[in-house]
Amino acid sequence: MRQIRFEQISKSFDGEEVISGLNLEIPAGKFFALLGPSGCGKTTLLRLVAGLENVDSGKIYLGDRNITKQPIYERQINTVFQQYALFPHLSVFENIAYPLRIKRTKDKIIREKVYDVLKMIRLLGFEKKNIKSLSGGQKQRVALARALISEPEVLLLDEPLAALDPKLKEQVLIELIELQDKLKTTFIYVTHDQFEALTVADQMAIMNNDGHIEQIGTPKQIYEFPASCFVAKFVGNTNIIEGKLLEISDLFKIKVEGLGKFEVFAPAKKNWMIAGCNLFLSIRPEKIFISKKEIEGFSNHMKGRVDNIIYYGRSTQYNVILKNGKKLMVFEQNEEHFPQEIIDYDDEVNLYFQKENVVLLQG
Ligand SMILES: Nc1ncnc2c1ncn2[C@@H]1O[C@H](COP(=O)(O)OP(=O)(O)O)[C@@H](O)[C@H]1O
Ligand SMILES: [Mg+2]
Repeated sequence: MRQIRFEQISKSFDGEEVISGLNLEIPAGKFFALLGPSGCGKTTLLRLVAGLENVDSGKIYLGDRNITKQPIYERQINTVFQQYALFPHLSVFENIAYPLRIKRTKDKIIREKVYDVLKMIRLLGFEKKNIKSLSGGQKQRVALARALISEPEVLLLDEPLAALDPKLKEQVLIELIELQDKLKTTFIYVTHDQFEALTVADQMAIMNNDGHIEQIGTPKQIYEFPASCFVAKFVGNTNIIEGKLLEISDLFKIKVEGLGKFEVFAPAKKNWMIAGCNLFLSIRPEKIFISKKEIEGFSNHMKGRVDNIIYYGRSTQYNVILKNGKKLMVFEQNEEHFPQEIIDYDDEVNLYFQKENVVLLQG
């Protein structure tokens, strides 16, 4: 198993730089997700790995091997695209067998391998079916089977579930995780959907609109400790509040105009964190506790008025207008059988959050 390494990759189309000087390491045998907004260059990056596109400069390595100039068929890298790209006139069996037919593999071996992958993707019994008669989810599985039959070292998945409805998407995501776990093939999963990326990834990278990697980490690291306002806002929901750093000791003391002072525990002090600097506080909506009552035991407190309430079933979203006129979003889990407190529109509320639940971001 070998890792993929991008070294100073640049790629332009019509004089427009899509990817510039990108460095990235993708670990071997893991489920890696590349998350970024539409048009940021994700597909381009995958096409460069697959050999469907050439870099302008830079190198791509698979382990120690420089594959930058290697032809597609020598790379042991296969792709599953959003548009399934199946052959509509061929059966499920022949679609899956296709890569082996090209290699002139013996019929007996083709049969064995096709049945193996059919079993793996739970489509045994579908082999004689016409592609047109399959549902979207089934077509996607056939595309997956066709990509896996030649046992690639790396499987590239480019927004493979974009066409599926949310319930089915969830199910296929879980199947993909199980499949990767079994095969230990390196999966690179590209998506603009943060839910998909957080669900599947062992490790993920966030790409911004300029085609730069903003952050790499586990889903938990990315969600809990976003490294920039872009990441904080792009992955999950958050409240960004502008403030000024007053004092650094064990705790950071921050002043927010119109709201007062807050205490923040930051696990690592960054170079830019200098007393007097402007910064942003990122507070996830679920880390804020809302109540009409005065409650002890929280590090930080604000007051506001409920502007809007959205009921989601298992949770409720409160939009609150703070004393400084800014809006804040709060999520509460609806876990109580008998809610002790009813919060309504226009209620004056207290908002509490702990010093550990704030991420400080560069202003
Ligand atoms: N073959 C191409 N010719 C010209 N422009 C392209 C080509 N492929 C991609 N682009 C442009 O490069 C940018 C990134 O595209 P893409 O990699 O498809 O983004 P993503 O997959 O993140 O949505 C877009 O502005 C797109 O229009
Ligand atoms: Mg794309």
